[in-house]
Amino acid sequence: MDKLVIEGGQRLKGGVSVSGSKNSTLPILAATLLTDDSCLIKGVPSLRDINTMLKILRSLGKGVEYDKGRVIVGASGNKNYVADYRLVSTMRASFCVLGPLLARFKKAKVSLPGGCVIGIRPVDLHIKGIKALGADVNIESGYVVAKARKLKGNHMYLGGVYGSSVLATDNVMMAATLAHGKTVIESAACEPEVADLAEFLIKMGAKIKGHGTPIIEIEGVKHLHGAEYTVIPDRIEAGTFMIASLITGGDIVIKNILPQHLGAVIDKLDEAGVSLIGNNGSMRVRPKRRLKPVNVNTLPYPGFPTDMQAQIMSLMCLVPGISVITEKIYPDRFMHVAELNRMGARIQREGPHAIIEGVKGLSGAPVMASDLRASASLVLAGLAARGKTSISRIYHLERGYENLDKKLEALGARIWREKE
Ligand code: EPZ
Repeated sequence: MDKLVIEGGQRLKGGVSVSGSKNSTLPILAATLLTDDSCLIKGVPSLRDINTMLKILRSLGKGVEYDKGRVIVGASGNKNYVADYRLVSTMRASFCVLGPLLARFKKAKVSLPGGCVIGIRPVDLHIKGIKALGADVNIESGYVVAKARKLKGNHMYLGGVYGSSVLATDNVMMAATLAHGKTVIESAACEPEVADLAEFLIKMGAKIKGHGTPIIEIEGVKHLHGAEYTVIPDRIEAGTFMIASLITGGDIVIKNILPQHLGAVIDKLDEAGVSLIGNNGSMRVRPKRRLKPVNVNTLPYPGFPTDMQAQIMSLMCLVPGISVITEKIYPDRFMHVAELNRMGARIQREGPHAIIEGVKGLSGAPVMASDLRASASLVLAGLAARGKTSISRIYHLERGYENLDKKLEALGARIWREKE
C-alpha cells in the first residue's frame, strides 16, 4: 500500500484542470441499467469508486469498456438483478442501482450499504420512495429485496431529518422514468449531480421537469434508449484546489470549472477575503489580503456542501481568530479533526460543531486518512505545514480524486508516493 509524502511550504502556482464529477458519473452509470441499448459516457474520471461501479454493472450482466475517460456500457448479456454485498459494501453509492433494476426487471435485490466513518448512512428515504411507486420492499439478510407487479407514478415527499437526499432522489427519479403515469418528488435534492443525471435520462427518452429544484416531475414512458453524454466537472475537486491555492498563499488558475455550482463556497471564501475571478470556464484563485475567520454550516445544495467541510477546516486552522464549522448533514463527519490537531491545529469538537482557533503554523507529521474528504484535508494541511507530512491509507483519496498528487506536483508542490 502506498502513502503520500509532502514537504510543505511551497506556494502553488500555475494552472490545473478539474476532472469529471465522480458524484455525477456514479448514478449516470447506474442509469444505463434502464436500457439494453449501448450508452457512451464521456469525461469519466479514473477513480476507485468508478471502477467499483463498473464491476457492479458487469456483475449485473452489462458489457463495459472503459478507456481514456470514455465508458461504453453495452447491451446486457445474462440479466441479473442482484447487487452483491461484497461490491455494494465497498461503496455506498452502489445503492443507486436499486431504482433502475426495479424499473427494468420489476424486482431488485441490493445489499444494504452499511455505514461508514462519516455516519450510519440510512436508506429509509430510498425505501419510502420506491414503496410510494408501488414496490413491495423487504429486508432479508442484509439485502433490500424489492418487487413490483407494476410501478405506478405517485406524489411523494422525500425530505428526511437532515433535509433532502441525493441518492434517494436519484433512485426514485430513475425508477419513476418507467413507471405508469406521473411522479412528483417534493423535497427532491437540488445538487448539480442530480440535475446532470436527469439530463442524461432525458437524453435516453425520459420525461423529466424541475430537476435542480426541490420539486421534480417525471412522466413515465414505456422504454428508454441508449444515449451519449458528457458528465459535468467535479465541483468538489474544484473547491479542493481553491483551498490548495489559498492555504499555500499561492495563485492558481482552475480550468474546467462551473462557478455556478460553487455559489456557497465562493461566497464563503469571498467573506474570508479571497479574490476569485472567473471567466469562460476557468477561475483564478489567490488571497486578496490576510484571510479572516468564518463560520460555516453545511446544508443541502445550494447550501455549503458537506463534501467541502474538511477542506475549509484545514484552511481555517491557519487563519487568526475563531472559526466555527457546524456539520448539519453528517454530524459525525469530523475524523480529520484529531489528525489536524496532531499537526498542531487547535480544533475543539462540540457535537456537530468544530471550534477552530487559528494558529501561526502547522507542523508536518505522520497522519492517517479515514475517508475521502478527510484525506483531502490532510493533504491540504500538509501542503502548508512546516516539514514533512506522510499520509497513510491513501486508497481513501484515490476513491474520489484523479491523480491529485500529480496535479499538485505540477503546481509546484513537493509531493510523492512511498511504500507504506
Ligand atoms: C451523496 O451521498 C454524495 N455521494 C456524498 O458525497 C455527499 O456527502 C452527500 O450526497 C450529501 O451531499 C454521492 O453522490 C455518490 P444523502 P448520499 O442521501 O446521497 C440522510 C463524497 O465525499 N439520509 O444526500 O448517500 C443522510 O444520513 C460523498 O463524494 C437519510 O436520513 O447522501 C445524510 O444525513 C460522501 N435517509 C443526509 O440525509 C436516507 O434514506 C444526506 O444524505 C438517505 C439519507
